[in-house]
Amino acid sequence: MDPSPPKRVLLIVGGGIAAYKALELVRLFRRAGVGVRVVLTRAGAEFVTPLSLGALSEDRVFTELFSLTDEQEIGHIELSRQADLLVVAPASANLLAKAANGMADDLATTVLLATDKPVLMAPAMNVRMWLHPATVRNVDGLTGDGVRFVGPDEGAMACGEFGPGRMAEPQAIFTAAMSVLATGPVAAPPVLPLKGRRVLVTAGPTFEPIDPVRGLSNRSSGKQGYAIAEALAELGAEVTLISGPVDLPTPAAVRRVKVVTASQMLEACRAALPVDAAVMAAAVSDWRPERVADRKLKKEAGAPEIRLVRNPDILATLSQPGPERPQLVVGFAAETDHLEEHARDKLVRKGCNWIVANDVTRPGVLGGEENAVTLLTGEGEEAWPRATKVEVARRLAERIAAALAEGSEAGDVH
Ligand code: C5P
Repeated sequence: MDPSPPKRVLLIVGGGIAAYKALELVRLFRRAGVGVRVVLTRAGAEFVTPLSLGALSEDRVFTELFSLTDEQEIGHIELSRQADLLVVAPASANLLAKAANGMADDLATTVLLATDKPVLMAPAMNVRMWLHPATVRNVDGLTGDGVRFVGPDEGAMACGEFGPGRMAEPQAIFTAAMSVLATGPVAAPPVLPLKGRRVLVTAGPTFEPIDPVRGLSNRSSGKQGYAIAEALAELGAEVTLISGPVDLPTPAAVRRVKVVTASQMLEACRAALPVDAAVMAAAVSDWRPERVADRKLKKEAGAPEIRLVRNPDILATLSQPGPERPQLVVGFAAETDHLEEHARDKLVRKGCNWIVANDVTRPGVLGGEENAVTLLTGEGEEAWPRATKVEVARRLAERIAAALAEGSEAGDVH
C-alpha cells in the first residue's frame, strides 16, 4: 500500500499575546513531518513577525487579503484547498466573532469562510471576554457549524486576571490537531440536488430490421448517453435509461430498458412519463424499412428494393406541449458543418429547451472517450472545452439540476 501523503495544516495566527506560542506549535508540526503554511492576521503581526513564522514553517507567510501578488500566485480558496486542516491559534474574541458570523474582511476570515476542511480553534482572550454571552453564543454557533475547540485553559493571564481564557499549550493544540488529521478527511455528505426528480435518458443507436439477420443502424456507442444517465443518478435523480443495442453495463442506480427499434424506444419513453427532464442522447435511425421480411433475403433473388419510411421523432414528440411534457427537454445534434446554425434550427424545429451540439468531424468524438460540445439554450450558447464524456455528462447533469431548481421557482425553464 502507498504510504499516505504528508499532512498539511494551514495555521491562522490571530492577535493576542499568545501568538508567540504559535512559533512552538509550528515547530511541533514540522518535527512531526506535517507541512505548515501560515496566515498571519494584522493583529497577530503585532505580536509575532512573519519572518520568524516563515523561518520555522519553511514557507512564506500570508498576511493580506488584497495583496495582488498573493492572489495571483495563490488565492484564498487555494490556501484552504491545499490544507487538510485549518488551525486557528490564537483565536481572539474578535476573530471568533467574525468567523461565527461569516464575515470575511481579511485573509484569515475569508479563508475560514471559504473552507470545507475541518477547523480547529484555540481561543485566547481575557476571562471576561471568554465568559461574555456574545462569545458564548459565537462558540456555540461555531460548534454547531462543526468547528472543534481546544482550550482555553484556566490560569493566570497576561492581563493579571485569573480564569479561563489562556490559550491551550502548543503541545495540547498539536495533539488535538493530530487527532483530527488521523481521523482522515471527513466525508462531506453527498449533495443530491436531483433527489426526488425523475429523468429519462435515451442512448445508443436504434436497429431497424430488414430481415431476421440484417438491419439499418449507426455507429453510436451510447457512451455519452450512459455517462449522462450515471451523472444524473449520482446527483440523486431517479433515472430511466432507454437504450438501443450497445455493449455497455447498466450504470449504478439506473433503471435500464433495452429496446431495438425507434418505435420501441418511443413506446418505452412514453411508458416512463411523467418525468421532470428528458435527455435524448440516442442516435435514432431516421428511417426504417417499410416491411420486415420474415425470412432471410436470398441473394439469389437479386438485390432487394428496400423501401424506407420515416421513424417517429422521439425528441419532437416528447417536446410537444401538453400535461405530460417534461419541464426540460434536451436534444443532441451531431453536426458536420455549420454547427451552431443547424443546432439552433433544430432547437426551434423540435421544440426542445436545449440542444447539446457536437461536431462529429472532430477526431475521436464518434465512439471515442472525449467530446467537445456547445450547449444551446433559449438564452444563448456556450462552447464547452473538450473533455471526457464523463466530464461533459457531469457538467450537463449539474446544469440540469440548476435549471430544474430555478424552474421550480420561476415555473419555467429557458
Ligand atoms: O434530427 P436529428 O436526428 O439530427 O436530431 C437529433 C436529436 O433528435 C437527438 O437528440 C436524437 O436523440 C433525437 N431524435 C429522436 N428521434 C428521432 C431522431 C432524432 O429523438 N427519430
